[in-house]
Amino acid sequence: MPKITLPDGSSLEAPAGKRLVLALEDGGVDILHRCGGHARCTTCRVQFQAGEPEMMTAAERDRLAESGLVGQYRLSCQIVCDQDMALAWVNRLADSSYSDVGGRPEDAITPPPEWVKRPR
Ligand code: FES
Repeated sequence: MPKITLPDGSSLEAPAGKRLVLALEDGGVDILHRCGGHARCTTCRVQFQAGEPEMMTAAERDRLAESGLVGQYRLSCQIVCDQDMALAWVNRLADSSYSDVGGRPEDAITPPPEWVKRPR
């Protein structure tokens, strides 16, 4: 099972293929996902320390580009846990002005993913 290391140095194991946003949430992290995992809001953003996936969904690429965030953040709702990853930063409810994290994303990536190489 892929190991996900959190910014505080703790870690969790995620079933291979699980959406990163759900692995974090089910691991007890209060990750935001205000649009329900549809690559619309960017509140599920994380920063990587290691193990950043080389591929991303076209929806993630387009949404990050729209907000000028390419190369800085990734959208955890658009990432599947298929390798060990270490996160440097997670967008948490506790650090936000929101009152809840948002509706639970579906198990499968939405919208249906078209995989592209991540821009640098
Ligand atoms: S972009 Fe909204 S939850 Fe990921």
